[in-house]
Amino acid sequence: MRVLGIETSCDETAVAIYDGEQGLLGHQLFSQVALHAEYGGVVPELASRDHVRKALPLIRALLAECALELKDIDGIAYTAGPGLVGALLVGASIGRSLAWTLGIPAVAMHHMEGHLLIPMMEHPDLEFPFLALLVSGGHTMLVDVQGVGRYQLLGESMDDATGEAFDKTAKLLGLGYPGGPALARLAEQGDPTRFRFPRPMTDRPGLDFSFSGLKTFALTTLQKEGPSEKNKADIARAFEDAVVDTLAIKCKRALTQTRLPRLVIAGGVSANTRLRQRLAEIAQENNAKVFYARPEFCTDNGAMIAYAGYLRLRAGESQSLHIGTRARWDMMELRPPGA
Ligand code: KG4
Ligand code: ZN
Repeated sequence: MRVLGIETSCDETAVAIYDGEQGLLGHQLFSQVALHAEYGGVVPELASRDHVRKALPLIRALLAECALELKDIDGIAYTAGPGLVGALLVGASIGRSLAWTLGIPAVAMHHMEGHLLIPMMEHPDLEFPFLALLVSGGHTMLVDVQGVGRYQLLGESMDDATGEAFDKTAKLLGLGYPGGPALARLAEQGDPTRFRFPRPMTDRPGLDFSFSGLKTFALTTLQKEGPSEKNKADIARAFEDAVVDTLAIKCKRALTQTRLPRLVIAGGVSANTRLRQRLAEIAQENNAKVFYARPEFCTDNGAMIAYAGYLRLRAGESQSLHIGTRARWDMMELRPPGA
Protein backbone atom coordinates (compact mmCIF):
# COMPACT_ATOMS: atom_id res chain seq x y z
CA MET A 1 0.00 0.00 0.00
CA ARG A 2 1.29 3.42 -1.05
CA VAL A 3 0.18 6.42 1.02
CA LEU A 4 0.39 10.10 0.16
CA GLY A 5 0.77 12.22 3.33
CA ILE A 6 -0.17 15.90 3.42
CA GLU A 7 0.82 18.21 6.30
CA THR A 8 -0.37 21.85 6.38
CA SER A 9 -1.10 22.50 10.05
CA CYS A 10 1.19 25.48 10.55
CA ASP A 11 3.94 27.17 8.54
CA GLU A 12 5.27 24.24 6.52
CA THR A 13 3.67 22.73 3.43
CA ALA A 14 4.95 19.15 3.47
CA VAL A 15 4.10 16.02 1.50
CA ALA A 16 5.52 12.50 1.32
CA ILE A 17 4.82 9.05 -0.07
CA TYR A 18 5.26 5.99 2.15
CA ASP A 19 5.16 2.49 0.67
CA GLY A 20 4.38 -0.45 2.94
CA GLU A 21 7.00 -2.61 1.25
CA GLN A 22 9.65 -0.15 0.09
CA GLY A 23 9.44 2.39 2.92
CA LEU A 24 9.63 6.13 2.36
CA LEU A 25 9.74 6.83 -1.38
CA GLY A 26 10.15 10.59 -1.21
CA HIS A 27 9.26 13.75 0.63
CA GLN A 28 9.03 17.46 -0.17
CA LEU A 29 8.75 20.46 2.10
CA PHE A 30 8.27 24.16 1.58
CA SER A 31 8.98 26.32 4.63
CA GLN A 32 7.14 29.62 5.06
CA VAL A 33 9.76 30.95 7.49
CA ALA A 34 10.79 33.84 5.23
CA LEU A 35 7.14 34.83 4.76
CA HIS A 36 6.47 35.17 8.50
CA ALA A 37 9.93 36.31 9.68
CA GLU A 38 9.23 40.04 9.36
CA TYR A 39 6.18 39.64 11.67
CA GLY A 40 8.14 37.75 14.33
CA GLY A 41 5.73 34.80 14.23
CA VAL A 42 3.25 32.90 12.09
CA VAL A 43 0.45 35.01 10.55
CA PRO A 44 -2.43 32.48 10.15
CA GLU A 45 -4.07 34.05 7.08
CA LEU A 46 -0.75 34.35 5.22
CA ALA A 47 -0.04 30.72 6.12
CA SER A 48 -3.35 29.46 4.65
CA ARG A 49 -2.88 31.40 1.43
CA ASP A 50 0.64 30.11 0.96
CA HIS A 51 -0.48 26.50 1.52
CA VAL A 52 -3.04 27.05 -1.27
CA ARG A 53 -0.23 28.25 -3.54
CA LYS A 54 2.29 25.55 -2.69
CA ALA A 55 0.43 22.29 -1.93
CA LEU A 56 -0.45 21.12 -5.45
CA PRO A 57 2.91 22.04 -7.07
CA LEU A 58 4.62 20.25 -4.18
CA ILE A 59 2.52 17.10 -4.73
CA ARG A 60 3.41 17.22 -8.43
CA ALA A 61 7.11 17.60 -7.59
CA LEU A 62 6.85 14.68 -5.15
CA LEU A 63 5.22 12.40 -7.74
CA ALA A 64 7.96 13.33 -10.23
CA GLU A 65 10.65 12.65 -7.61
CA CYS A 66 9.16 9.17 -7.00
CA ALA A 67 8.49 8.54 -10.72
CA LEU A 68 4.84 7.87 -9.84
CA GLU A 69 1.46 9.10 -11.01
CA LEU A 70 -1.63 9.86 -8.93
CA LYS A 71 -3.16 6.54 -9.98
CA ASP A 72 -0.29 4.74 -8.21
CA ILE A 73 -1.45 6.06 -4.81
CA ASP A 74 -3.59 3.69 -2.69
CA GLY A 75 -4.51 5.93 0.22
CA ILE A 76 -4.24 9.48 1.52
CA ALA A 77 -3.44 10.77 5.00
CA TYR A 78 -3.79 14.44 5.84
CA THR A 79 -3.34 16.40 9.06
CA ALA A 80 -6.79 17.32 10.41
CA GLY A 81 -5.58 18.93 13.65
CA PRO A 82 -4.48 20.36 15.94
CA GLY A 83 -3.23 23.50 14.21
CA LEU A 84 -4.35 26.65 12.43
CA VAL A 85 -7.84 26.03 11.08
CA GLY A 86 -7.37 27.83 7.76
CA ALA A 87 -4.08 26.07 7.15
CA LEU A 88 -5.50 22.66 8.08
CA LEU A 89 -8.46 23.17 5.76
CA VAL A 90 -6.15 23.46 2.75
CA GLY A 91 -4.54 20.04 3.30
CA ALA A 92 -7.84 18.45 4.33
CA SER A 93 -9.70 19.73 1.25
CA ILE A 94 -6.96 18.63 -1.12
CA GLY A 95 -6.59 15.24 0.59
CA ARG A 96 -10.31 14.51 0.63
CA SER A 97 -10.89 15.71 -2.95
CA LEU A 98 -7.98 13.67 -4.31
CA ALA A 99 -9.18 10.56 -2.46
CA TRP A 100 -12.72 11.02 -3.79
CA THR A 101 -11.51 11.55 -7.37
CA LEU A 102 -9.21 8.53 -7.22
CA GLY A 103 -11.72 6.35 -5.39
CA ILE A 104 -9.27 5.54 -2.57
CA PRO A 105 -9.56 5.77 1.24
CA ALA A 106 -8.39 8.79 3.23
CA VAL A 107 -7.68 9.28 6.94
CA ALA A 108 -7.81 12.46 9.01
CA MET A 109 -4.62 12.42 11.06
CA HIS A 110 -3.65 13.90 14.42
CA HIS A 111 -0.48 15.99 13.96
CA MET A 112 1.06 14.83 17.25
CA GLU A 113 0.46 11.16 16.44
CA GLY A 114 2.56 11.77 13.33
CA HIS A 115 5.40 13.16 15.48
CA LEU A 116 4.96 10.31 17.96
CA LEU A 117 5.21 7.44 15.46
CA ILE A 118 7.81 8.66 12.93
CA PRO A 119 10.74 7.27 15.00
CA MET A 120 9.28 3.80 14.21
CA MET A 121 9.74 4.45 10.50
CA GLU A 122 13.32 5.49 11.20
CA HIS A 123 14.10 2.51 13.43
CA PRO A 124 12.50 -0.80 12.38
CA ASP A 125 13.72 -2.33 15.67
CA LEU A 126 11.62 0.10 17.71
CA GLU A 127 8.60 -1.80 19.06
CA PHE A 128 5.65 -1.04 21.33
CA PRO A 129 5.38 -0.42 24.24
CA PHE A 130 7.46 2.71 24.85
CA LEU A 131 7.57 5.90 26.85
CA ALA A 132 7.36 8.99 24.63
CA LEU A 133 8.45 12.52 25.36
CA LEU A 134 6.64 14.72 22.84
CA VAL A 135 8.14 18.19 22.71
CA SER A 136 6.98 20.63 20.03
CA GLY A 137 5.99 24.26 19.57
CA GLY A 138 2.50 23.58 20.91
CA HIS A 139 2.83 20.56 23.20
CA THR A 140 4.86 18.93 25.95
CA MET A 141 3.60 15.46 26.84
CA LEU A 142 4.87 12.30 28.48
CA VAL A 143 2.89 9.40 27.07
CA ASP A 144 2.74 5.67 27.78
CA VAL A 145 2.41 4.21 24.27
CA GLN A 146 1.11 0.62 24.03
CA GLY A 147 0.21 0.66 20.33
CA VAL A 148 -1.24 2.86 17.57
CA GLY A 149 -4.04 4.83 19.26
CA ARG A 150 -3.33 3.24 22.65
CA TYR A 151 -2.02 6.23 24.55
CA GLN A 152 -2.06 7.16 28.20
CA LEU A 153 -1.08 10.67 29.20
CA LEU A 154 1.37 10.65 32.13
CA GLY A 155 2.23 14.34 32.24
CA GLU A 156 1.93 17.57 30.26
CA SER A 157 2.77 21.25 30.38
CA MET A 158 0.65 23.48 32.57
CA ASP A 159 1.56 26.57 30.55
CA ASP A 160 4.10 27.16 27.74
CA ALA A 161 5.07 24.19 25.58
CA THR A 162 8.82 23.42 25.44
CA GLY A 163 9.27 24.80 21.91
CA GLU A 164 7.19 27.84 22.79
CA ALA A 165 9.47 28.52 25.78
CA PHE A 166 12.51 28.25 23.49
CA ASP A 167 10.91 30.60 20.93
CA LYS A 168 9.81 33.21 23.49
CA THR A 169 13.19 33.24 25.23
CA ALA A 170 14.95 33.46 21.87
CA LYS A 171 12.78 36.45 20.98
CA LEU A 172 13.68 38.36 24.14
CA LEU A 173 17.36 37.62 23.43
CA GLY A 174 16.82 39.25 20.02
CA LEU A 175 17.23 36.02 18.03
CA GLY A 176 14.15 36.42 15.82
CA TYR A 177 11.77 33.72 14.58
CA PRO A 178 11.82 30.75 14.76
CA GLY A 179 14.07 30.99 17.76
CA GLY A 180 14.58 27.46 19.11
CA PRO A 181 17.43 26.36 16.85
CA ALA A 182 19.06 29.83 17.04
CA LEU A 183 18.97 29.76 20.84
CA ALA A 184 20.51 26.27 20.84
CA ARG A 185 23.33 27.53 18.57
CA LEU A 186 24.01 30.56 20.80
CA ALA A 187 23.98 28.33 23.91
CA GLU A 188 26.98 26.45 22.44
CA GLN A 189 29.13 29.53 23.16
CA GLY A 190 27.67 30.09 26.63
CA ASP A 191 29.35 29.43 29.96
CA PRO A 192 27.37 26.67 31.72
CA THR A 193 28.64 27.65 35.17
CA ARG A 194 27.72 31.36 35.19
CA PHE A 195 23.93 31.32 35.81
CA ARG A 196 21.71 28.63 37.26
CA PHE A 197 18.02 28.77 36.31
CA PRO A 198 15.36 26.83 38.28
CA ARG A 199 14.18 23.31 37.31
CA PRO A 200 10.42 24.00 37.54
CA MET A 201 8.15 21.48 39.30
CA THR A 202 10.93 18.96 39.93
CA ASP A 203 10.81 19.38 43.72
CA ARG A 204 7.32 17.84 43.94
CA PRO A 205 5.98 14.49 42.78
CA GLY A 206 4.26 14.11 39.42
CA LEU A 207 5.14 14.32 35.76
CA ASP A 208 3.69 17.68 34.72
CA PHE A 209 5.78 20.59 33.45
CA SER A 210 5.78 24.38 33.69
CA PHE A 211 8.15 26.37 31.48
CA SER A 212 6.68 29.88 31.45
CA GLY A 213 8.69 31.02 34.49
CA LEU A 214 12.00 30.31 32.73
CA LYS A 215 11.53 33.04 30.12
CA THR A 216 10.81 35.52 32.94
CA PHE A 217 13.98 34.32 34.66
CA ALA A 218 15.87 34.89 31.40
CA LEU A 219 14.37 38.37 31.03
CA THR A 220 15.21 39.54 34.57
CA THR A 221 18.76 38.15 34.22
CA LEU A 222 19.16 39.98 30.90
CA GLN A 223 17.87 43.24 32.41
CA LYS A 224 20.20 42.91 35.41
CA GLU A 225 23.34 41.92 33.48
CA GLY A 226 22.84 43.92 30.28
CA PRO A 227 22.44 42.75 26.66
CA SER A 228 26.08 42.02 25.72
CA GLU A 229 26.74 39.07 23.39
CA LYS A 230 28.53 37.22 26.19
CA ASN A 231 25.61 37.71 28.60
CA LYS A 232 23.12 36.56 25.99
CA ALA A 233 25.10 33.41 25.25
CA ASP A 234 25.44 32.61 28.96
CA ILE A 235 21.69 33.15 29.47
CA ALA A 236 20.88 30.96 26.46
CA ARG A 237 23.06 28.21 27.92
CA ALA A 238 21.48 28.49 31.39
CA PHE A 239 18.00 28.38 29.84
CA GLU A 240 18.75 25.37 27.66
CA ASP A 241 20.38 23.51 30.55
CA ALA A 242 17.34 24.18 32.77
CA VAL A 243 14.87 22.92 30.14
CA VAL A 244 16.93 19.85 29.25
CA ASP A 245 17.55 18.98 32.89
CA THR A 246 13.87 19.37 33.79
CA LEU A 247 12.78 17.13 30.91
CA ALA A 248 15.45 14.59 31.87
CA ILE A 249 14.37 14.49 35.53
CA LYS A 250 10.75 13.85 34.52
CA CYS A 251 11.71 11.21 31.93
CA LYS A 252 13.78 9.39 34.53
CA ARG A 253 10.84 9.48 36.92
CA ALA A 254 8.48 8.19 34.23
CA LEU A 255 10.85 5.38 33.23
CA THR A 256 11.16 4.28 36.86
CA GLN A 257 7.40 4.49 37.36
CA THR A 258 6.36 2.66 34.18
CA ARG A 259 9.38 0.35 33.78
CA LEU A 260 9.01 0.81 30.03
CA PRO A 261 12.09 -0.51 28.19
CA ARG A 262 12.22 2.17 25.47
CA LEU A 263 12.22 5.98 25.44
CA VAL A 264 11.16 7.85 22.30
CA ILE A 265 11.77 11.60 21.92
CA ALA A 266 9.71 13.29 19.23
CA GLY A 267 8.51 16.70 18.03
CA GLY A 268 10.52 19.75 16.94
CA VAL A 269 12.54 20.12 20.14
CA SER A 270 13.76 16.50 19.84
CA ALA A 271 16.15 17.91 17.20
CA ASN A 272 18.02 19.54 20.10
CA THR A 273 21.44 17.90 20.46
CA ARG A 274 21.87 18.53 24.17
CA LEU A 275 18.41 17.06 24.91
CA ARG A 276 19.22 13.94 22.89
CA GLN A 277 22.53 13.45 24.70
CA ARG A 278 21.06 13.95 28.15
CA LEU A 279 18.11 11.60 27.53
CA ALA A 280 20.43 8.95 26.13
CA GLU A 281 22.27 9.04 29.50
CA ILE A 282 19.02 8.86 31.46
CA ALA A 283 17.79 5.95 29.37
CA GLN A 284 21.04 4.06 29.86
CA GLU A 285 20.86 4.52 33.64
CA ASN A 286 17.39 2.91 33.49
CA ASN A 287 18.41 0.11 31.12
CA ALA A 288 16.15 1.59 28.47
CA LYS A 289 16.97 2.27 24.83
CA VAL A 290 16.49 5.75 23.39
CA PHE A 291 15.08 6.47 19.90
CA TYR A 292 14.57 9.63 17.85
CA ALA A 293 14.17 10.59 14.20
CA ARG A 294 16.72 12.37 12.00
CA PRO A 295 16.48 16.17 12.62
CA GLU A 296 14.41 16.94 9.50
CA PHE A 297 11.78 14.43 10.67
CA CYS A 298 11.72 15.85 14.23
CA THR A 299 10.27 19.15 13.04
CA ASP A 300 7.09 19.24 10.94
CA ASN A 301 7.27 17.08 7.81
CA GLY A 302 5.11 15.08 5.43
CA ALA A 303 6.74 11.69 6.11
CA MET A 304 5.28 11.51 9.62
CA ILE A 305 1.74 11.92 8.29
CA ALA A 306 2.29 9.48 5.41
CA TYR A 307 3.80 6.87 7.77
CA ALA A 308 1.28 7.19 10.65
CA GLY A 309 -1.50 7.33 8.04
CA TYR A 310 -0.17 4.13 6.48
CA LEU A 311 -0.38 2.37 9.88
CA ARG A 312 -4.05 3.36 10.18
CA LEU A 313 -5.05 2.80 6.54
CA ARG A 314 -3.35 -0.61 6.56
CA ALA A 315 -5.60 -1.61 9.44
CA GLY A 316 -8.65 -0.69 7.36
CA GLU A 317 -9.37 2.71 8.83
CA SER A 318 -10.79 5.51 6.67
CA GLN A 319 -13.42 8.19 7.05
CA SER A 320 -16.33 9.39 4.93
CA LEU A 321 -16.24 12.36 2.56
CA HIS A 322 -16.81 14.88 5.36
CA ILE A 323 -13.97 17.44 5.49
CA GLY A 324 -13.43 18.15 9.17
CA THR A 325 -10.55 19.90 10.91
CA ARG A 326 -9.94 20.66 14.58
CA ALA A 327 -7.85 23.56 15.86
CA ARG A 328 -7.77 21.86 19.27
CA TRP A 329 -7.70 18.10 19.55
CA ASP A 330 -6.62 16.02 22.55
CA MET A 331 -4.39 13.16 21.37
CA MET A 332 -5.81 11.00 24.18
CA GLU A 333 -9.14 10.91 22.31
CA LEU A 334 -7.52 8.76 19.62
CA ARG A 335 -8.40 5.06 19.46
CA PRO A 336 -6.65 2.14 17.76
CA PRO A 337 -7.39 1.83 14.02
CA GLY A 338 -10.91 0.59 13.38
CA ALA A 339 -11.91 0.72 17.08
O1 KG4 B 1 7.15 19.96 15.93
P1 KG4 B 1 7.42 21.31 15.40
O2 KG4 B 1 8.19 21.45 14.11
O3 KG4 B 1 6.09 22.09 15.21
C1 KG4 B 1 5.03 21.97 16.08
O4 KG4 B 1 4.28 20.97 15.96
O5 KG4 B 1 4.94 22.85 16.95
O6 KG4 B 1 8.18 22.07 16.57
C2 KG4 B 1 8.64 23.37 16.39
C3 KG4 B 1 9.33 23.81 17.67
C4 KG4 B 1 9.66 25.29 17.64
O7 KG4 B 1 9.24 25.86 18.86
C5 KG4 B 1 11.17 25.30 17.48
O8 KG4 B 1 11.78 26.43 18.06
C6 KG4 B 1 11.56 24.04 18.22
O9 KG4 B 1 10.57 23.11 17.83
N1 KG4 B 1 12.90 23.55 17.82
C7 KG4 B 1 13.95 23.51 18.65
C8 KG4 B 1 15.05 23.00 17.90
N2 KG4 B 1 14.59 22.75 16.63
C9 KG4 B 1 13.29 23.09 16.60
N3 KG4 B 1 14.09 23.84 19.95
C10 KG4 B 1 15.30 23.67 20.52
N4 KG4 B 1 16.39 23.21 19.87
C11 KG4 B 1 16.31 22.86 18.56
N5 KG4 B 1 17.40 22.40 17.92
ZN1 ZN C 1 4.69 19.66 14.75
